[in-house]
Amino acid sequence: MSDCKFYSWIIMPKSKIPQKVVEELNRQFNQELAAAHSYLALSVWCDVRNLKGFGKFFVKQAGEERMHAERILKHLTDRGVTAEVTALPAPKQEFKTLLEIAQQAQAQEHANTLGINAVYEAAVAAKDFPAQVLMHWFINEQVEEEDWSTEMVERVQAATCAGSQGDLDRHIERYLEQEVREVPDEK
Ligand code: FEO
Repeated sequence: MSDCKFYSWIIMPKSKIPQKVVEELNRQFNQELAAAHSYLALSVWCDVRNLKGFGKFFVKQAGEERMHAERILKHLTDRGVTAEVTALPAPKQEFKTLLEIAQQAQAQEHANTLGINAVYEAAVAAKDFPAQVLMHWFINEQVEEEDWSTEMVERVQAATCAGSQGDLDRHIERYLEQEVREVPDEK
């Protein structure tokens, strides 16, 4: 006799999410993980050049991206979908200047905004209201993410000598503090 019935409770129920939305959520889940991976690479570049302020800032960003991925993962799991954790591409690690680092962060955040928008578009087209509500948080979050990354580029561009770059490194976390606060959960 099969003993499957003893394990039937671990089988996920059928997904309640339209397939196109599942695909977009799963893609974005992995994009957030890739962003975390990339921020770690940026922190390594900064740390070995004694830009410890930037290094610390990017480690924190890596943690935030993982939390974003977990937020999407929980949504998928709660709605009966087994998320696919894909292989991550090796992040870019070759940079010539701190400005290139800041521009990489800015480009990454812009790509993340496009990814979030794609999930939202799919959720609207499929009339998937829970996924739309989930994406509202991310859409707000991306406004802040694009804001701090743009400010970082502008501040690095303005730091034209080694002294001013060192000063910027010491204070970068405080300068960008307002922009990097996560959007709070709605009560
Ligand atoms: Fe998850 Fe920086 O966006």
